[in-house]
Amino acid sequence: PVPGPLAGRHVLVTSGPTHEPIDPVRYIANRSSGKQGHAIAAAAARAGARVTLVCGPVNLPDPSGVTVRPVETARQMLAAVEAALPADAAIFAAAVADWRAAREAGEKMKKDGGAIPALTLTENPDILATIAHHPAQRPRLVVGFAAETENVVGYAQAKRARKGCDWIVANDVSPRSGIAGGVMGGDQNQVHLITEAGVEDWPTASKSDVAERLVARIAAALGPLEGA
Ligand code: C5P
Repeated sequence: PVPGPLAGRHVLVTSGPTHEPIDPVRYIANRSSGKQGHAIAAAAARAGARVTLVCGPVNLPDPSGVTVRPVETARQMLAAVEAALPADAAIFAAAVADWRAAREAGEKMKKDGGAIPALTLTENPDILATIAHHPAQRPRLVVGFAAETENVVGYAQAKRARKGCDWIVANDVSPRSGIAGGVMGGDQNQVHLITEAGVEDWPTASKSDVAERLVARIAAALGPLEGA
């Protein structure tokens, strides 16, 4: 095992978007590069953890020293997360599509001459809330993300309570957040860490530095390995 503050720990991370098929060539998705989630997985591995990264479709290399479980849909992501339990800490950085098409067409939908199709949506499982309320295998530390465009801290505090997670990492993804190039797809992030104790405003930093800092906090919260 790699020595480090997370040696002997299993850390589970979700990253990237999900793709929800409409037909064989079309899908619904959120904007997500996967950069922040992948950076967290990489940082946890450098800190000595055994890391499982469940990730949607991204254009990023697999972080080294990490077990990657690629998925496409929210339902596949939930199944892969459940299969990876137990974990000491779970960080849900994926931008999961809230809805999927109620029925997936088996063949490509044709536009020639016909009426414009109506898309009926149905709700996807909430992976974070499901794991945070897991009856038998809730990780000791469950961390969610909140991307908001307004009232960032207020909505994130409400989200922490609603989802049942321990911490929320909240970031302002509005175009006026002041981060050059934008948070989504960019390399910089500015976040607020919301815990039971209150709100911390972290300075603007690279996604890799935000990941290092979060991983150090996770190691401190888990404390030394029992029996070590
Ligand atoms: O509700 P909202 O999507 O804003 O919550 C964001 C947080 O919840 C993120 O941590 C995200 O990974 C997680 N989430 C999830 N499953 C969903 C929706 C969101 O795990 N279906």
